[in-house]
Amino acid sequence: MKFQKEKTLVLLKPDAVQRNLIGEIIGRFERVGLKIIAMKFVVPTKDQAFKHYVKNDAEIVALGNRSIEGKKKSGIEVKEDPKTLGQQIIDRLVRFLSSGPVVAFVLEGNQAISITRKLVGSTEPLQSAVGTVRGDYTIDSYTLADNDNRAVRNLIHASSSQFDSGYEIDVWFKPEEIYSYNNVRDRILYDVNLDNIND
Ligand code: CMP
Repeated sequence: MKFQKEKTLVLLKPDAVQRNLIGEIIGRFERVGLKIIAMKFVVPTKDQAFKHYVKNDAEIVALGNRSIEGKKKSGIEVKEDPKTLGQQIIDRLVRFLSSGPVVAFVLEGNQAISITRKLVGSTEPLQSAVGTVRGDYTIDSYTLADNDNRAVRNLIHASSSQFDSGYEIDVWFKPEEIYSYNNVRDRILYDVNLDNIND
């Protein structure tokens, strides 16, 4: 069967860079079998960070709604409307992402989007499973971040859908900066016929 080749965008946020976790995190994606096909070290502008997070206006309200739902579940009273809250979260995310160098890269491989999300773990560090990047390396929480009026420091971003990965890859890379090359490992991961591996 032909494998489901996907590309996904990953950002190691300023906290990952400041904590010297670049190699540790990237190694996990290399190890699982994903291929790095583009990479850069960059201090994002506020415009770039905004473009990355806001694909369309509806997303601001959706983010506000997700936050309200989460707060209600934790018994926290919410006074703001979804748009105001969403905008507040976006402002914090933009401030955080543009605060220092980040590592941006594109991973390619079979079902790269969901495999990468699995390795990254859930957004709120309090809930991310042990063994995931966020579960293993963060102890921040939405509550702490909200109290300090800042974005949650959750180390890493990974695209959540095919639409998002296409959009986000365009925000960070020009087409000529992406290299879809063959590497020697492809054969053992994807070759249809491995009857004689010595061939
Ligand atoms: P990231 O993976 O970079 O992409 C979207 C970001 O929005 C996410 O990390 C979190 O930092 C932030 N985010 C998502 N949901 C919420 C929420 N309910 N409250 C606060 N921040 C959120």
